[in-house]
Amino acid sequence: MSQGIVTAAYLIAALLFILSLAGLSRQDTAQRGNIFGIVGMALAIIATLASSQVSGGSWIITLAMAVGAAIGVRVALRVEMTEMPELVAMLHSFVGMAAVLVGFSSAIEHAPMSGAAKTIHDVEVFLGIFIGAVTFTGSIVAFGKLRGVIKSAAKGLPGGHQLNLAMIIVSLLLGAIYMSTGGVWALVLMTLIAFVFGYNLVAAIGGADMPVVVSMLNSYSGWAAAASGFMLSNELLIITGALVGSSGAILSYIMCKAMNRSFISVILGGFGAEGGTVVSDGEQGEHTEVQAEDVAEMLKAANEVIIAPGYGMAVAQAQYPVADITKKLREKGVNVRFAIHPVAGRLPGHMNVLLAEAKVPYDIVFEMDEINDDFSDADVVLVIGANDTVNPAAKEPGSPIAGMPVLEVWNAKNVVVFKRSMATGYAGVQNPLFFKENTDMLFGDAKASVDNILKAI
Ligand code: TAP
Repeated sequence: MSQGIVTAAYLIAALLFILSLAGLSRQDTAQRGNIFGIVGMALAIIATLASSQVSGGSWIITLAMAVGAAIGVRVALRVEMTEMPELVAMLHSFVGMAAVLVGFSSAIEHAPMSGAAKTIHDVEVFLGIFIGAVTFTGSIVAFGKLRGVIKSAAKGLPGGHQLNLAMIIVSLLLGAIYMSTGGVWALVLMTLIAFVFGYNLVAAIGGADMPVVVSMLNSYSGWAAAASGFMLSNELLIITGALVGSSGAILSYIMCKAMNRSFISVILGGFGAEGGTVVSDGEQGEHTEVQAEDVAEMLKAANEVIIAPGYGMAVAQAQYPVADITKKLREKGVNVRFAIHPVAGRLPGHMNVLLAEAKVPYDIVFEMDEINDDFSDADVVLVIGANDTVNPAAKEPGSPIAGMPVLEVWNAKNVVVFKRSMATGYAGVQNPLFFKENTDMLFGDAKASVDNILKAI
């Protein structure tokens, strides 16, 4: 294929990626956004394989891609919606490792260079390997924390920020040694340090702050890909990496604002550090229990109902009966609305996706900022499998989740919490909401509980 056609294909693919991102920003256009992304990527792969950059050996690439695609399809078909963030974290680690490998290959074998071209190449190699290595181990730690194999609490290596600063300085020195001597050993040492740095950066961020880490690693993986694009002189990889890097950074910024956290402290890995441990994870008084039939009576008598869903609704797959209850109550003239916390569930937009899947109308689904002042007007609030996102402990200085904005459900006349036990949420912080006078606990699997209410309405 001539270089002109390859460039045109790259241009079209880049446009499709931009359209894809635009589509993904809204629920009702997300499916179209995905299709644009798939077509863009297919075009990019075909154009790259047909370009003069791939001279011979394209069968090896095709074979490797076929094996990778088969594994990818199998994993994607088997993954539960609740495991999606783990999968994303794992995929980020692959991008990181790819950037490290491309960096080493470019450092070991490249055309003879001198002057500014050599300096630029060496900087690309250094940045590509450094960002890639940080992304690799950081993403593995994030995967472990999301899967629950590593404790979600903030626990970095001793030395904290000083250690991080020392690792950055030593890495820069090794980069300078590589640039002046060409010694690959300096890159190897820098990579090992960057692996530890990536680990420490994410290990030091804990509990409820994990969503920001995932979007931050998304951004890092984009920059790692962009650096690989420079090393491989592939414009499309540069554009795609920059799109992922900047959209991940924007998402991290939006999430930081939503979580009332400082963007800079996230990037520096000191995120969860300021939280104390004043709120215990033990019980904090007496709680009261209700049965599904009692909740059905409350709902029948209500005019204003707000539903605050969380991770437990996703686990129980309770969105379908929740949608049925909503429909039934609306037919009876009850005003039912949904309150969505920006980090409810385990991935951005998790609740919106589930509710859209169950065909809940978009116009009754509200973001936290739009609905938080309305809880005092609600007769009943149903907290379905949410915990950290409705935890009033966030208002107490010294709590590990202090400062995180939450849905102020406790201002309603009655609150019913659907969960299976008194266990804490993802952040491991006990929830004083459960012990408030206007709160009742409805124990059991959320789907079974909602089904029972549905029968009784
Ligand atoms: P969580 O705080 O995770 O609490 C979920 C609750 O659901 C648990 O307390 C659990 O209690 C209950 N539950 C689990 N399975 C259930 C089932 N089958 N039926 C009924 N209840 C069930 O939920 P949240 O309020 O959505 O908060 C999300 C948390 O995850 C935040 O801390 C957030 O920072 C973090 N996080 C979010 C993201 C993104 S991007 N959204 C990414 C990573 C981490 P029982 O075990 O007692 O039933």
